[in-house]
Amino acid sequence: MKKTLLSIGVAVETDLSNINKQEISTLQDLLYKNRIIVIKNNELTEKQFCDFAHLMGEPIPYLQKNYNHPEHDLIFVSSNVKQGNTQKIGVPRTGGYWHSDTAFEEDPKLITMLMPKILPLKSPRTTRFIDMSSVYKNLPLHLKNAIEDVEFLHSGRYKYKVRPEDVGLDVSEILEMIDYIQAPVAHPAVITHPYTKEKIIYASRGFTIGIKNKGLDESKKVLNELFDFAEQQEFVKEIQWEKGDLIIWDNRFLAHSSGRKKAPTDDIHVEVSKEEETMMYRITLKDGLPLTEEKKIYCNNNN
Ligand SMILES: [Fe+2]
Repeated sequence: MKKTLLSIGVAVETDLSNINKQEISTLQDLLYKNRIIVIKNNELTEKQFCDFAHLMGEPIPYLQKNYNHPEHDLIFVSSNVKQGNTQKIGVPRTGGYWHSDTAFEEDPKLITMLMPKILPLKSPRTTRFIDMSSVYKNLPLHLKNAIEDVEFLHSGRYKYKVRPEDVGLDVSEILEMIDYIQAPVAHPAVITHPYTKEKIIYASRGFTIGIKNKGLDESKKVLNELFDFAEQQEFVKEIQWEKGDLIIWDNRFLAHSSGRKKAPTDDIHVEVSKEEETMMYRITLKDGLPLTEEKKIYCNNNN
């Protein structure tokens, strides 16, 4: 297996149509130690993509069915392709903000596998990443103290994509519906990676909406300071998509954002209509490890 280090993660040359168990373990080890692996030069069919996901863990379909591929429900489709030979599937313009996939679920799917299907012709497409273990290591002490032993609340409510059938609902009704489908969940603010034992801040500006048992003002102050620190250029790395890539990352370590460039505009609809066509397939999966290593509780039996 040929490996090349990237600005974040490692590129790997291997043939996924003919991979054995030992190589899967090697890929998982590389993934946890490097945060991201980019497997090069495999143009998989939808079925091959799903089959490979089953080798890497337990893939789970995304909870909102309108995102999923009509024939392969494990595949979440991000696509703005409108016409031509390709049928309109999936949802356009996903993930253009810092987030960790499915963090708003009780049992987040911690591994993401991304496969570019249609790449834009003019401007290269990228995904940006922040290694939140690196942020933790460099965090000012007062912020470290503020987030130690607290739980963050996560929700996808502010990133919900309004569907045609939502027209006529007011925003508060839409928010109630989102909370009914998936109420906000609490996860430890600082987790310990179950494989590498590193400490990581499990949070993102897109999905982390508060601190459990803290007031709105205090939560906002701490979270804004934390995200302003984490999103500094020194922590942001970028991976450029190429045809045949399979990009796999561990959501415990990484916050990510689509690298789509935002143009300043007073009419977002005009900008959206100018965007180049792109289609990306995603599968999220459970890897058999917990979000965080269990805290050891020592009992004193001498009482
Ligand atoms: Fe994402």
